[in-house]
This record gives sequence, C-alpha cells and structure tokens, in this order.
Amino acid sequence: MNLPKFKIGRYTADLPLIQGGMAIRISTGALAGAVAKTGAVGVIGASGMAFEELAEEIRLARQIAGGNGIIGVNIMFAAREFIGLVNTAIKEKIDVIFTGAGFSRDIFKMAKGSVTEIVPIVSSAKFALLSKKLGAPAVVVEGKEAGGHLGTLRSIKEILPEVRSAVGPDFPVAGAGGFYHGSQIAEFMRLGANAVQIATRFVLAEECNAARAYKEVYQRAKEGDVVIIASPVGMPGHALKTAFVNRILDKSVPTPMGCDYCLKNCSLVYCIIQALINSQQGDVENGVVFSGENVWKIKDRTIRPAAAIIKDILNEYEESVNV
Ligand SMILES: Cc1cc2nc3c(=O)[nH]c(=O)nc-3n(C[C@H](O)[C@H](O)[C@H](O)COP(=O)(O)O)c2cc1C
Repeated sequence: MNLPKFKIGRYTADLPLIQGGMAIRISTGALAGAVAKTGAVGVIGASGMAFEELAEEIRLARQIAGGNGIIGVNIMFAAREFIGLVNTAIKEKIDVIFTGAGFSRDIFKMAKGSVTEIVPIVSSAKFALLSKKLGAPAVVVEGKEAGGHLGTLRSIKEILPEVRSAVGPDFPVAGAGGFYHGSQIAEFMRLGANAVQIATRFVLAEECNAARAYKEVYQRAKEGDVVIIASPVGMPGHALKTAFVNRILDKSVPTPMGCDYCLKNCSLVYCIIQALINSQQGDVENGVVFSGENVWKIKDRTIRPAAAIIKDILNEYEESVNV
C-alpha cells in the first residue's frame, strides 16, 4: 500500500483515514476502537453523552484498538456541555479532540500542557488558517457533501485547493464530505488533502451503534432521498427523507413539549436532539437520519465489520491508481 501516513501533532496514523465523529451515540467506543485497530483514526461522537459515559467509551475504544491507530472524540461547539465534554476527554488523555458546528478559540488554552491535540473542522480557508495560527496540528475541511450539520454549501472540491494554498504545503489537512468510493482518496489528495474523513460509509459497520432500522434507511436510499433541512442549531443539515423530515420540509413539524436547553442556541422549532435519539434507537419515522449526500452511490451496503469496510476502501483505491 503506497498511501502516506497521517500526522496529527505527536500522533501518527498508519492509514490516512479518519472515521468522522457521529453524535447522539452513532459512533461510540466500539466503532472508534475497531477503526483505530486497523491503523486509522477512530472517532467517538461525544455530543449528547454524559461525562462519565464519554470516559467509559474512551476506555472501551482504547481497549479494542490495542494501542493501534489514533482515537479521537468529536465535540460540537454548539452543545451547551461543550466545555465539560472537552475537559472530560482531556482528563481521559484522549489523543485528539475534533471540534465542529462552530469555532472555539478557548479550547486551545484548555488543552495546553495535556497530551491532547485539537483539530478544528472547518469549511473555509479563513478558518483553516486561523486554526493553524492558534496552534492546531491539522484541520479537517468539510464540504457541503457531508452528513449532519453543514458549515457551508460549497463543494469540498472547491474548498480543498483554497485551504491548501492558504496553509502552505506542509500543514496536515483532511478532506471530508461525500466519500463513497476508494478512488476518492486519490482525488482528494490531488486537490490538496493528506487524508480523508469518512462518516456515512461507517454507519453500515457492524460496530456502529445505530439501530438496525437506521441502517436500513441507508440501505434503501436512492438518488434524491438526501435532503437539506434547517436545524434548530441555526445550520443546514443533510438528512435522509423520513416522515419526520418531510414534516420539517413542509413546516408541519411538532414543536417540543419540553426542553432542557442542551444547545447554546436553538430556534426551538423542533427538538433536533430528540429526533436524532429517536432514529438512533430505531424509531426512524419520528426521527432525523443524518447522512452524507452520496449514500445512495455506495455499492456494497451490507452490514460488515469496520475493518472489512476499510479493506474494501483500500482495495478500491489500489484499483483506481493501478489502471
Ligand atoms: C450520522 C452522522 C452524524 C454526524 N455527526 C457529526 C457530529 O456530531 N459532529 C461533527 O462534527 N460531524 C458530524 N457528522 C459529519 C461527519 O463527521 C463527516 O465529517 C461527514 O459526514 C463526512 O462526509 P461523508 O459522511 O459523506 O463521508 C455526522 C455525519 C453523519 C453521517
């Protein structure tokens, strides 16, 4: 395999692949550990977890990975418990914290003197450069093709070259959004990336903590099924059509019965967290199923171990560069 390693500060992953963090218990310690075991970067979606639960998931991931790869947590800046989750992860000596859905300058101070590297998820050259200046050892650049909340409506293919010219030739950059085939590793690298962050494809992993019904929505997805919804967080989001999503689109969605103010800012039009919990637990028709826009292009949508998915991605990459 002629793929380069991916460096995140003091840590090096043998494979330049990051499994993107997926909140509300879609990517937990089981998936992150299985991915890291292959030499890639496995990420726990921390948003929505209690502090002790996050600590336990980090320990589980570490145990499964057996010292291989890199283990990270993804924490949404938009979450009210952002600081508490960051402190928990640092206390557990997590390798990397990926932060998205907003931008935190303070997090760099919080991680000072710890073994934890801070990697912002950005959608523009401006924020990639700011991250580098604040001391980030790498950035993830996400385009409009990604799943979940979106920081931009521009394609990753447009943004990556801009980021590369802004941060210079040696700064580690991972590209994210719309990954469905291994040949895209070479494509992203040509555009300036050193690594690729993939989420949607890992939802179909055995170790992914989404209910069977959630995975079946992915398996049934066809062209036109991924839509953009307005999230109460104040950002657009990519989700697959369900009865609940259709009600968001036609503005007949039920307003929340109660609220524990889990987000720093929320329009309160509907409860995105409850909708994500519902789908994660299998009640997809009353829930939101986040997904990248190219889910329907994934050829093999059987549910398999994460290691088998990674093996396929690497084979697809090899075939694409050897033609
Ligand atoms: C189900 C799901 C949940 C996600 N949750 C988060 C999250 O909590 N935080 C975040 O920064 N990104 C989140 N994302 C975005 C991914 O981490 C990743 O960057 C993106 O989806 C990559 O594109 P792809 O899914 O087409 O591979 C989520 C994506 C999906 C599909």
